[in-house]
Amino acid sequence: MIITYGSAGEDLAKSISKITGQTLAKTSCRRFPDGEQYVKITGELSGEDVAIVQSFGLNPDQLFMEYALIADAARGSGCGSVTAIVPYLAYTRQDRRFQSGEALSAKLFPRLIEDAGTDRVITVDMHLHRFKEIGQVFRIPAVNLSAMPLLAEYYGKRRSSRNALVIGPDKESEQWAESVAEKLSTDYTILEKERLGDRDVEVSGDLCVKGRSVVLVDDIISTGKTLMEVISRLKAEGASRIDALVTHALLVENALPKLKRAGLSELIATDTVANPAAKVSVSPLITEALKK
Ligand code: R5P
Repeated sequence: MIITYGSAGEDLAKSISKITGQTLAKTSCRRFPDGEQYVKITGELSGEDVAIVQSFGLNPDQLFMEYALIADAARGSGCGSVTAIVPYLAYTRQDRRFQSGEALSAKLFPRLIEDAGTDRVITVDMHLHRFKEIGQVFRIPAVNLSAMPLLAEYYGKRRSSRNALVIGPDKESEQWAESVAEKLSTDYTILEKERLGDRDVEVSGDLCVKGRSVVLVDDIISTGKTLMEVISRLKAEGASRIDALVTHALLVENALPKLKRAGLSELIATDTVANPAAKVSVSPLITEALKK
């Protein structure tokens, strides 16, 4: 297999190629003066299976177009198959037409990836909520890996989880909170979240955390408002320390300093999206999946 990448996948592609010993084919991406994108893969791809590493965090529209051009370039070079390695799959949270006139992006985006010429997909901690399995949105073979055990392992090596409580901010976070609590051999609880706007959430639920250290668990931090809301409640209830384990740290609008100011001790995130809290790499996870 040849590994290549888009501009949001270069570091992971290099790391996967290093671990597996598979050839890395460089892709150059640039823009024409009018804003259209141009890509070129270097190397011989004829008859080869090609894996394209491209994350869709921060500016997903541009990154998707780049992916589609790379997939077409690989196809045009006569490759055998195209595997999309998508550490962060965007557009998954709109998984229902909440109001009439809305698009169902969680279903449309996978179709666009398929139509770009993809044969199979590997992703990490896809936001599964109303869709329960990745196979409900992709018609091609697709694997959803979880980085939560790796995040929990990292945390467990550094801090004692005795007396720790794992908390997920909303219903869909139960899958990730449960996995982290199991790995840390501790208990977990799930709160209720009501989203009032893009940057406005309300969180409710039982918070008996006096004197306990809390490990918040979620798949995505975007503006950080969800976790900020939980943190302020936890502080008021007397939590002794608050850390967060998150797979996709998009951290828009200066979310990390805001979270720290709100009282977060440490954010432990993965490298599915480039971010300053990326302490755990998903490359070993992806490498294992590629072998299968
Ligand atoms: C949605 O339910 C996700 O799991 C996250 O909780 C959400 O995307 C976080 O967004 P924000 O950081 O903007 O509150």
